[in-house]
Amino acid sequence: MTHTNQEIPVTDTRPRCPVDIDLVDPDTFEHGLPLEAFAAMRAQAPVFWHEQPGTWGDGFWVVTRHADVMEVSRQAEIFSSYERGALLSTGEQDEEQALQMTRLLMLNMDPPEHSQLRNIVQRAFTPRTIRALESRLQEFADDIVDRALAKGEGDFVADVAAELPLLAICELIGIPAEDRLKIFDLSNRLIGFDDPEFTTSIGDAHIASMEMYGYANELAEQRQKEPKDDIITKLLQAEVDGGNLTVEQFDVFFLLLSVAGNETTRNAITHGMHAFFQNPDQWELFKKERPLDTAVEEIIRWATPVMQFQRTALSDYVLSGQLIKKGDRVVIYYSSGNRDEHALPEADRFDITRADNEHIAFGGGGPHFCLGANLARAEIRILFDTIANRMPDITQTGEPRMLRSAFINGIKELPVRYTA
Ligand code: HEM
Repeated sequence: MTHTNQEIPVTDTRPRCPVDIDLVDPDTFEHGLPLEAFAAMRAQAPVFWHEQPGTWGDGFWVVTRHADVMEVSRQAEIFSSYERGALLSTGEQDEEQALQMTRLLMLNMDPPEHSQLRNIVQRAFTPRTIRALESRLQEFADDIVDRALAKGEGDFVADVAAELPLLAICELIGIPAEDRLKIFDLSNRLIGFDDPEFTTSIGDAHIASMEMYGYANELAEQRQKEPKDDIITKLLQAEVDGGNLTVEQFDVFFLLLSVAGNETTRNAITHGMHAFFQNPDQWELFKKERPLDTAVEEIIRWATPVMQFQRTALSDYVLSGQLIKKGDRVVIYYSSGNRDEHALPEADRFDITRADNEHIAFGGGGPHFCLGANLARAEIRILFDTIANRMPDITQTGEPRMLRSAFINGIKELPVRYTA
């Protein structure tokens, strides 16, 4: 069956990209987002076929418009995260085996299995839980800024942006303070990027993930024996409505959190600071008027730390007039959708008072919408508020260095001077 909800002619050929670009090659992103290329794609071929020899189907559909990313995201019964996973295939030989493993993560599940699991873990992320965390986040932010000020100058990524996200997850879950360094180290080793500067090998990432499971396992078993008033216990408790997590499910969830909540928020913070450096009028406005809520959304839109996720069509579907065949992979580009003029007027302007900011940095809606969105928002709000209060004259002293990755829009270094 072919689904369509658009009154436009249907094409079943495979249009190519209007510009010469390889979206799979990490080098393409080494100097920042290819924004002009994305604009050309949205205008001339919003749904086009990208070759990727040696992978499932030898290629995938690239979706670049805001409305189309939302349409795909909201139809999990057609666009599956389970079938070929939500991470863009790499074509490595052991892909089938890797797929089996990744399907344990909720990110790579479809309803109804996904919904059951999500209903349980949602308990850790209620607005009340996040509000209760805020005073701790403020203490962490104060401490981070104290240490940065004592240093005088340094790298904003390492000194400021990197710490809060992990501390927040540890606090949320209830990781004892003495174990936090270990979790820091493990999650850094887990994220294996294509960037040669990060020496993480697949083997080391694998060892780190095993150690992470081992740690989570011990913690879960301990709480089963001695329940406490914390999130781990709540997730494992059998008597709570809607079921509980098994120890194994908890281990996998723990791993997902430390990856999903860490690098993303770190890069939102760094891109936000960099955007303020590039737009000093916006920094002045932020310091003077503190439009916290709109500023946080704009920072997240501007950063769009996750550039894309993958889906696989479970039936034929027509998207913006383009026929997508059952079994085809579809990659949705949040980083392009968030610069789409049709959804976000003056999309290339960093405007911390932007109204109706319907960005898709946390996903285009639908069942996988970022579970940690409110936590990330709270971290960013508290941190920037603290920076504006305590070191309002922070200045950039060197060029940012971008992460070499086709998945995460990252800044790996941003030299700054901290002044009180
Ligand atoms: C600015 C920071 C963040 C960004 C930009 C971000 C972005 C995303 C995106 C794009 C998705 C997929 C949405 C979809 O497929 O529709 C996602 C899912 C997810 N995020 Fe985030 N995220 C951020 C912070 C966090 C934090 C702080 C946590 C947890 C501590 C977190 C946990 C998760 C989880 C568990 C999922 C999977 C949800 C599911 O499959 O149902 N994220 N995030």
